[in-house]
Amino acid sequence: MSDFETVAQISDIPRGEGRGYTVNGRMIAVFNDDGEFRATDDLCPHMGAPLSGGYILDGAVVCPWHAWRFCISSGGWTDNPELKIDVFEVRVVGDEIQVSVPPQDN
Ligand code: FES
Repeated sequence: MSDFETVAQISDIPRGEGRGYTVNGRMIAVFNDDGEFRATDDLCPHMGAPLSGGYILDGAVVCPWHAWRFCISSGGWTDNPELKIDVFEVRVVGDEIQVSVPPQDN
């Protein structure tokens, strides 16, 4: 169980883009998918690019380095959904984007 923490104002993240934040010691990416906000791990499992530097296409983030795509709702890699990145709960309160990020166990 973890609490929600404010990371940004909704005006901070343009539509179709992401931004990176550190929450509870973890690097996370928060994306604006046409006005809906989603949060995932910021680290691409391929070679470690920051996914927050990618862009959103059809509900997935396109990695800025080699264009692997991950669904920002489930975290699944679009080529093989068994490979997943973590996703986190997001809520918007007023103008604030808040995320709930549990501490990493390993
Ligand atoms: S580092 Fe993300 S696709 Fe290669």
